[in-house]
Amino acid sequence: MPPKPVRIAQISDLHIKPPGQLAYGRVDTARAFERCVAALNEFAPRPDLVVISGDLADTPTMEEYDYLKRLLAPLTLPFVGIPGNHDSRELMRSAFPEVAYAFPSGALNQRVEIGGLDLVLLDSSVHGKPHGELDALSLQWLEATLASSTERPALLFLHHPPFKTGIWHMDRQNLRNADELAVIVRRHPRVQLIAAGHVHRATLTMFAGVPAAICPAPNHAVDLDLEQLREPSFKVEPPAFHLHSWFAGERFGSVVTHQVPIGTFDGPHPFFGPDGKLL
Ligand SMILES: [Fe+2]
Repeated sequence: MPPKPVRIAQISDLHIKPPGQLAYGRVDTARAFERCVAALNEFAPRPDLVVISGDLADTPTMEEYDYLKRLLAPLTLPFVGIPGNHDSRELMRSAFPEVAYAFPSGALNQRVEIGGLDLVLLDSSVHGKPHGELDALSLQWLEATLASSTERPALLFLHHPPFKTGIWHMDRQNLRNADELAVIVRRHPRVQLIAAGHVHRATLTMFAGVPAAICPAPNHAVDLDLEQLREPSFKVEPPAFHLHSWFAGERFGSVVTHQVPIGTFDGPHPFFGPDGKLL
């Protein structure tokens, strides 16, 4: 029997407001997150871990993190989170004091070992700014962390995409020092995936020779405006999360990402009847 794959559910951009408040006066992000938690709990087989790739809160305030914790309480899966531009390092540190961050202050980077896999969670947030940047200590830590093994595959998670999406108002607030990240990624072939958030929509490209994806959100999506046709806008599109499965195998094994829609849909229905014939 081949070993069981490691399954990582990635959710992103929860934007939890204080109870009763809507994001942008329109989106009930708390109800959307409740539906996301229910979908994660119901998913079979159970993911081994949930990674929340930033923008857990919205303003941010401690009241929002307290509410987030209440909304997370029904989640039956372990989870880890990294900050986005709508988060506060200090408030997240107080809200989740049990987390083993790499540094006692500053960036909330973490390395998580899970099965034969390393997850490297990078804090790309810049206090008070919408764009992302990996500070010098984080880059040094990333280099040292990746250099600590040449054999274990690693998945990198960070909030800000280190690449352009073609959505102009998001591209001006992506990861500013993507070139510095690229130099490190190219030095370490064990990096198998770069998984980001921030844009609230499923996006796929290559970065420094590695597949790189953006995870959709459980609430609203950034409008797919690829020609500056409209003011920066959002659209309530079908919500979803990403499920990254890592299969052990030759060299670094393989990673496959599925997009999982959140909601109730017709099915599953069998293709074949009891006689084995197609229905
Ligand atoms: Fe963001």
